[in-house]
Amino acid sequence: MNNWVILKFGGTSVSSRERWETIAEQARRTLQRGARPVIVCSAISGISNSLEALLRTAVSGDHTSTLERIVARHELLAEQLEVDVRAAVGDELDDLARIALGASLTREVSARLQARTMALGELMSTKLGVAFMNRIGVSTAWEDARDALCSEHEIGVNEQRHYLSATCAFDPDEALQARWGALPADVVLTQGFIAADDQEVTVLLGRGGSDTSAAYFAAKLQASLLEIWTDVPGMYTANPRAVPTARLLKHLGYDEAQEIATMGAKVLHPRCIDPIRRFNIPLQIRSTEAPDVEGTRISADIPDFGAQVKAISAKNGVVLVSMDTIGMWQQVGFLADSFAAFKANGLSVDLVATSETNVTVSLDPGANALDPSTMKALLRDLAPYCHARQIGPCAAVSLVGHNIRAILHQLGPALEAFEEQRIYMVSQAASDLNITFVVDEEQADKLVNKLHTLLFHERVTDALLGPTWKETFEGERHESHAPKGAWWVAKRDELLAVCEEHEAAYVYDAATLEARAHSALSLGANRVFYATKANSNPGILRRFEALGLGFECVSTGELDHVRESMPKLDPDRILFTPNFAPRHEYVEAFEIGAHVTLDNLYPLEHWGEVFRGRSILVRVDPGRGKGHHKYVKTAGPKSKFGIAPAEMARLADLVAKYEVDVVGLHVHVGSGIRTPDTWAENAAFLAEVARDFESVRVLNLGGGLGVPEKPGQRPLDPAAVATALGRFRDANPQFEIWMEPGRYLVAEAGVLVAQVTQTKSKGDIRYVGIATGMNSLIRPALYGAYHRIVNLTRINDRTTMVADIVGPICETGDVLGHRRRLPETHGGDVMLIATTGAYGRSMSSEYNLREPAEEVIL
Ligand code: LLP
Repeated sequence: MNNWVILKFGGTSVSSRERWETIAEQARRTLQRGARPVIVCSAISGISNSLEALLRTAVSGDHTSTLERIVARHELLAEQLEVDVRAAVGDELDDLARIALGASLTREVSARLQARTMALGELMSTKLGVAFMNRIGVSTAWEDARDALCSEHEIGVNEQRHYLSATCAFDPDEALQARWGALPADVVLTQGFIAADDQEVTVLLGRGGSDTSAAYFAAKLQASLLEIWTDVPGMYTANPRAVPTARLLKHLGYDEAQEIATMGAKVLHPRCIDPIRRFNIPLQIRSTEAPDVEGTRISADIPDFGAQVKAISAKNGVVLVSMDTIGMWQQVGFLADSFAAFKANGLSVDLVATSETNVTVSLDPGANALDPSTMKALLRDLAPYCHARQIGPCAAVSLVGHNIRAILHQLGPALEAFEEQRIYMVSQAASDLNITFVVDEEQADKLVNKLHTLLFHERVTDALLGPTWKETFEGERHESHAPKGAWWVAKRDELLAVCEEHEAAYVYDAATLEARAHSALSLGANRVFYATKANSNPGILRRFEALGLGFECVSTGELDHVRESMPKLDPDRILFTPNFAPRHEYVEAFEIGAHVTLDNLYPLEHWGEVFRGRSILVRVDPGRGKGHHKYVKTAGPKSKFGIAPAEMARLADLVAKYEVDVVGLHVHVGSGIRTPDTWAENAAFLAEVARDFESVRVLNLGGGLGVPEKPGQRPLDPAAVATALGRFRDANPQFEIWMEPGRYLVAEAGVLVAQVTQTKSKGDIRYVGIATGMNSLIRPALYGAYHRIVNLTRINDRTTMVADIVGPICETGDVLGHRRRLPETHGGDVMLIATTGAYGRSMSSEYNLREPAEEVIL
């Protein structure tokens, strides 16, 4: 009994001398293991398309150059392989010329002729290959696949399908095993994609059919292994060309592999799974470009990885048909009638979602001809039963993995990626292998990337996940868990020294603070008031004072603190912008000579005398907020801030009554915004409102300038903010522009460092405990905010574990980072939590009577 191993090589894997050397090497390796290799090859890459083009151009009478290209391509490969082109493929090239001439005379091409022509691609690549193999000493027999694979005779199948998209039986074939077993050569070389019908006429297995051929051979020969060699080493957690951080999947079950292939991955043809699954033949995907990488193994005996998402895929060109069935509720036979219309138009339905009044289905472009006339006919046929309309083309984004229903609850954070998407359809496969969202086509790539980051970013290499595409092909090592260029990497020694004296500390970098202040001053505002609430450390305030910034305060506490920290500060540099403050705070602010902003009519209506004869700014609500979290969107119908434009007429009456001068208008839409046009948009809005208030000369555009938090986020471009504002100022020179940023000046200048107190594993979660927690940094618990966390002590070590970083506070929410990739971490190590200069210490508390981290400026 032979131990057969099938090795299938795709188009790029048979297109050069180097690739054929790999094929020979793999044949030898297989022989060394005591197995007999059967090599199944595609046509040289691009040739199948050229052959199709040849027939098209022949019909229009102009095929010479296409034919020449095909000949030249084979001559070139023959030359590289040092084999005689005429001896190897002379007959096939002549046949091709005759076919082209014939088609140019008859001006028509039947499906049968098309199959015969296309088959020449595989016949030629394998004939050149066999000559090469034998020349270099690998004894190889050439076998015609049409003598081994016979297509099934399906009743009622049209000609196209019979010749161009055939299927074959794949029962174990003892005659073939005996015949090939007796060949006087070590290796068998044959073609993918082609077979013969029961009349011995050439037929094709459909595009991508070489994988299917190889699977048929594996089943017929009862092979011990099927290896599919292609240009990528396997299946990935996402399409690696679109998502460079996609990870190789080392093991998959047959059903998962089939699902991933069906949902859009192009590595493997989904049809090739069935034959090998039936006989439990393992399939290994390998890459001719990286032959040492083990690739993906698809088999029944995969380790139990538990329920989890294994891949995210996107398929474009999906068309939805939405059928409104008002009046059809509970009517018998609606589905039968409407689905008959799909059948009549030759359309195969992919996903289905139903409600009481609507049925929506998706049509897969891979399985259907979705041309306008077919769609029109379908909608016409559906008209008697429902109101049908076409939506799309859309993209189907799928999360694939076993038992996906069991982990729906864990997908919560990942589903936030859909927050701003229009979702046309959600479908959860009855097989429990995928959940699919149909969205606008333009959104698909962005969405896949976002979902991939959320689901896979923090996963380390383990039994399931291998290297990323980049690591394999660009020799890139595992990304260090610290970014290059951060000030805290350069000042690591100083930070570690701080932690010898403090269990936990907020450390600020003076150089970064100053650089950020300069950047804020260059945005194009006449005056910049630092939002004190972001970080009120006196050392920081004084540095900003020296650079000429003003200070925005929101309470008398902040007013007093600012004046105590900077006794010589001119009150003209203080801006008071409270919200729902008590009466006496306005009194005090006027007394000290600060600029005062009013963000409600109530104070004027009830305490008018406090404002009599004063100049004020007025905060207006532009109707829509922005920001990194719903809690920090400070405009719009659900926010408590600002005066609605509709109330401005009442404001005008009140200011007239108390002889108040509205010298400025203010808007602040939210915090953590990274779209650079925001402030120019705010300005344009205020300029509109200012038309009714002649006294207005100042427009305060607020703060809210964001910084990147998660890896991969783009920073806000200050130059783009300045350009947009510059345009506004050129058109509206009468206004003075103010801004009041907080985060932007301090966030990246600060880090929280803390010693590791204890570590532990419980269940399958590892914990790294540090000396301070939500008492110092509440942002992760409050907003689900992400802060990069690194082990500063072992910053250059490879990440080998995944852990939750937790504090000592008695709440389950005291987690500073979930499932982070870290190097092996021990008690006494110093952990660093990045981008914590803003809203870190200023929002801290003594909860549990634990003092928050102390502050140090470097
Ligand atoms: N102006 C006004 C009226 C504000 O309410 C704020 C912030 C700012 C300016 C400064 O915003 P910034 O430039 O810092 O984004 N605790 C949250 C942020 C809350 C912001 C509150 N208002 C966080 O940790 O993300």
